[in-house]
Amino acid sequence: MMKPTAVALAASLLGLAAAAQAAERSGKEVYEAVCSQCHATGKDGAPRFDDRAAWRERSAKGLDKVTANAITGIRKMPAHGGQAALSDVEMSRAAGYMISGGAATDTDKAYASPKTRSGEEVVKARCRECHTDGKGGAPRLGNMADWKPRLQKGVPALVKSAQGGHNGMPARGGLADLSDPEVKAAVEYMVALTGGGKK
Ligand code: HEC
Ligand code: HEC
Repeated sequence: MMKPTAVALAASLLGLAAAAQAAERSGKEVYEAVCSQCHATGKDGAPRFDDRAAWRERSAKGLDKVTANAITGIRKMPAHGGQAALSDVEMSRAAGYMISGGAATDTDKAYASPKTRSGEEVVKARCRECHTDGKGGAPRLGNMADWKPRLQKGVPALVKSAQGGHNGMPARGGLADLSDPEVKAAVEYMVALTGGGKK
């Protein structure tokens, strides 16, 4: 049986998930704010929104693959459309919106987000630039005192803020081609380091 505290915690975590979802923009909104810059006119060779034949051809490789390419970037298509703060769900919705010519209903789930790098790899490649010495007030790796107040928000909230960025922390740590699962893995790796890490 669940203890009352566990039930309360589960309920509040569900509430958080619902709030996070509500904050995600629709495919149409993301398209109009970001993607239309290139996809309305075909800039740099982007498939035009109204070019049904071009989208049919591209989606032949599968919706998942096409969406993954939009998340990581491909040739002149910038990762996350150049807006690293967009979540993978928002990218999935926007891709679905364009591929379907505006007909797709918004998904709540990201299509097969690619996770090719481990948390450790991402931290070593990027995050430690600031998080080793606490540049700009970044919580230091393995330093429990720095992490404790942040951990009180819960790990999902930390993942969300690493993805979207805030203050001196750039969205996705400035690595726009990281997928949500990769950001999550990196944050979990950082959190794990506080466990047995140096003081
Ligand atoms: C700066 C211009 C630019 C912006 C902004 C942009 N795109 Fe693109 N996009 C491109 C170009 C160029 C291509 C063609 C890349 C190629 O295949 O050579 C492309 C291709 C794509 C493809 C097809 C990928 C494939 O595998 O064939 C998808 C899906 C896509 N973009 C989604 C998006 C979404 C969603 C947004 C908004 C969040 C967006 N794009 C914003 C330039 C852009
Ligand atoms: C350019 C420097 C820089 C890089 C690179 C960077 N961070 Fe940060 N990070 C910061 C700063 C500064 C803060 C503190 C921001 C604040 O809370 O005011 C921070 C805070 C955080 C937090 C705490 C968020 C919160 O809500 O309290 C997490 C988690 C985090 N970063 C994860 C990452 C991950 C994962 C990466 C690598 C993908 C990364 N950071 C790369 C500077 C950086």
